[in-house]
Amino acid sequence: MKTDYPPSNYTGQLISFEGGEGSGKSTQIQRLQASLEACGKQVIALREPGGTTISEQIREVVLSNKNIGMAYTTEVLLFQAARAQLYREIVLPSLEAGKVVLMDRTRDSSVVYQGIVRGFGEELIEQLNDISTKNTRPNITFLLDVDPEIGLSRREQADGKQGLNRLDMESLNFHQQVREAYLKLVKNDDRDRWVVMDANQTIDDLEEDIWAEIQARGICA
Ligand code: TYD
Repeated sequence: MKTDYPPSNYTGQLISFEGGEGSGKSTQIQRLQASLEACGKQVIALREPGGTTISEQIREVVLSNKNIGMAYTTEVLLFQAARAQLYREIVLPSLEAGKVVLMDRTRDSSVVYQGIVRGFGEELIEQLNDISTKNTRPNITFLLDVDPEIGLSRREQADGKQGLNRLDMESLNFHQQVREAYLKLVKNDDRDRWVVMDANQTIDDLEEDIWAEIQARGICA
């Protein structure tokens, strides 16, 4: 596909975390950030949708429970709009400055939720992702794979029912489709980018597994 943006050259590392609700991504990202900093890396941790003033405003709109009438097409474009802003303001400059960028969700969430589960198709969403990210792909993606029933009940326990956003409130069947869609992406991975982690285990065990993989890939020896 032709875009008006050239791929950027950078020396940093983009490490993303993906997975369904309650898979524990944010805790693992905090811990990994601390370990990477302890080994001398400059690290920045971001979440999608969000991470800049403009992207956080878009997050509010796209996830609000008030917006149950949102068309799926609007949803697709709002996630991309938040992403385009985040990459231009923070992700790409940080990668160019040689930092490690840890992301709680990025382009694969759109492929899974909007491309596969909502049905817009992987190809279309990847084209939009390429525009939003200026053709940037993660170097490593950790899939924190959790049984959706366990994930949703963790989420409810942590935040209560009021803490559930517009997408959390989809049916269990929706969340099962999300899980299967992620596993499909892993199966079709031709760059050895995905690392599947068992997120049903304890937080400490999961942290250890993630750190072992980071070391195995030579990011912190
Ligand atoms: P969030 O509260 O950040 O949930 P989580 O802790 O599960 O990451 O909510 C983000 C929601 O937005 C989540 O349900 C996944 C969804 N999402 C998409 O559907 N498409 C996207 O491109 C992104 C980034 C997120």
